Amino acid sequence: MILGFPEGINEQVRDLNLDNWIYVTVDPVRFRYRNDVLQVDTLISGSNGQWGLTHDNFGRLFFSNAGAENAGSGFQINPVYGQLDFNDAYDDGTFGKVWPIIKTPDVQGGIDRLRNNDSTLNHFTAACGQSIFRGDHLPKDLVGNYLINDPVARVIRRAKVINKSGKIILENVYSKQEFIASTDMNFRPVNTYTGPDGCLYIVDMHRGIIQEGAWTGPDTYLRTQIMRLKLDQNVQHGRIYRLGYDGMERGPKPQILNEPTKKLVQYLDHPNGWWRDNAQKEIIRRDDQSVINSLKRIAIGEKGSMLKQPSPLARIHALWTLEGLNSIDKDILFAAMQDKDAQVRRTAVWISEYFIKKDDEQTIMKVQELKDDESYDVLSQIILSLSYSKTDKAKAIMKEILAKNSKNEMLEGIQKSLKNNQEEEVKKFGSMLANLNVTNRTMILEGAITYKSICANCHGVDGKGLFNSVAPPLVGNYERMLQNKDAMIKILLNGLKGPVEGKSYLDIMPAMGANSNEWIAGVLSFIRYDLALSNSSSKEHAPGNLSKILVSPEQVKKIRDQTAKRKSPWTWAELEENSHTKDF
Ligand code: HEC
Repeated sequence: MILGFPEGINEQVRDLNLDNWIYVTVDPVRFRYRNDVLQVDTLISGSNGQWGLTHDNFGRLFFSNAGAENAGSGFQINPVYGQLDFNDAYDDGTFGKVWPIIKTPDVQGGIDRLRNNDSTLNHFTAACGQSIFRGDHLPKDLVGNYLINDPVARVIRRAKVINKSGKIILENVYSKQEFIASTDMNFRPVNTYTGPDGCLYIVDMHRGIIQEGAWTGPDTYLRTQIMRLKLDQNVQHGRIYRLGYDGMERGPKPQILNEPTKKLVQYLDHPNGWWRDNAQKEIIRRDDQSVINSLKRIAIGEKGSMLKQPSPLARIHALWTLEGLNSIDKDILFAAMQDKDAQVRRTAVWISEYFIKKDDEQTIMKVQELKDDESYDVLSQIILSLSYSKTDKAKAIMKEILAKNSKNEMLEGIQKSLKNNQEEEVKKFGSMLANLNVTNRTMILEGAITYKSICANCHGVDGKGLFNSVAPPLVGNYERMLQNKDAMIKILLNGLKGPVEGKSYLDIMPAMGANSNEWIAGVLSFIRYDLALSNSSSKEHAPGNLSKILVSPEQVKKIRDQTAKRKSPWTWAELEENSHTKDF
């Protein structure tokens, strides 16, 4: 949209959320640092955001999608659980209208996008750079508000975030007006942030032209406007504004990196979210175990030497900090589930997913005690978190909550999204697998799970590779993937060192030989079967050639025995030289 990135690299904004995961706006992945390693996790349906990502005090993310003319999306549930958006999550349906205070004829959509009477943009078209204000040096009624820019309209919207029985609704604070609107044609707000000093920061690209070359060619509507208004002459004037308030001082400059961890623990109760987030991040980065006991006391609201009276926000940050330090335990979680503050209870349920995923009965029973919770945020979280358990008990609790609250839109929406997720999986594999016998089907499905949890981290969920050339795409590469089965097995057993077809990648293909023959056979069968079928020419061959496509554990064993002495990764030069069998 705005910045000229090289082709193939998506414009992405990242946000380190309270849950210690770094979310990005475009690719269907999230990251986190653990033990000095950047882990990757895949998101079922992606987050579908564009430019801008922010979170509120409780870890709710807010995406936006300028291309879809959308001034906020993806804020009902965390994208790790799937997608849920409501069309009516924007006041009375007028939220999409923007209110510039100058004529804005340089709109790519042309005159249809302008109001007849005053030639102002009539709808968001470049919504971006949103933030939730979490500072402490502007009036309190701004805290928790949602701010989003439209650089084409030269405005910044301010919205209230209203929680209506669990469903989130955005509402313009002003009627037919904006929080900030400029008469300067070059005012191009593209980002907003809460600063460490508790004020609001606004990034203004301050640039005449804002649309990419593809839309401003000769004879386009936009080119005519640009030339007429001489917009091309204003470049290189980007600026940053700080929004203060008369009579309110700025907060002090942070020294978080130089202060003892004990001090950082106190910042978990700071009135400015910037300090709380960064204190949490730095405590986890230091991996300082000496504060664990204090954190535990704060998490359950006990008075202690570091915090006299931990606020709900301090309790929430203490819980996530413990989670980040791998020091969360059931006692703390169960106590936090009984907290008098709903957001603390919700946090406790969210974090307890770690145990729920292991089908831990005791945790599921404790979660059950919250089934009549007065907060729909807590109930929503219970449904989302319990969806990870395969136990009948968890399913029964979900069912009971849904039945008791059958009129609640949020819970109903969540139920639908979870169902969609399952259908996505079935859609992807269902029809393809119909013709297979149970053994082969199970092998491929298990391979698909392995692929998603391990291989997708480098090769992408869809096998197309990630945006930054970590590893080669596997899709579209079907000839090499299919032809040489022995080579595929060897790559999995001992790894592969590039370049691959003349291209070098950021990583090398790690050896996976420590896994069982069944495991390797499963993931290779998945790749070969999935790719074989997504390629039309081999589709015809597929059923007849099933035994050639699929990899059996016996075949893996054979190659494993043959190459037992091999310790280093292969190169394709070697693999091709050694290949005597061609399957196709
Ligand atoms: C840490 C990143 C990483 C992970 C995880 C990973 N790979 Fe790879 N893979 C690579 C890289 C990088 C290459 C290319 C070799 C090179 O450049 O060194 C590669 C190459 C391959 C190739 C050969 C592709 C070609 O065109 O020659 C196959 C097949 C493959 N990987 C399968 C897998 C499977 C299956 C998994 C999961 C079990 C997996 N990879 C996990 C990084 C990874």
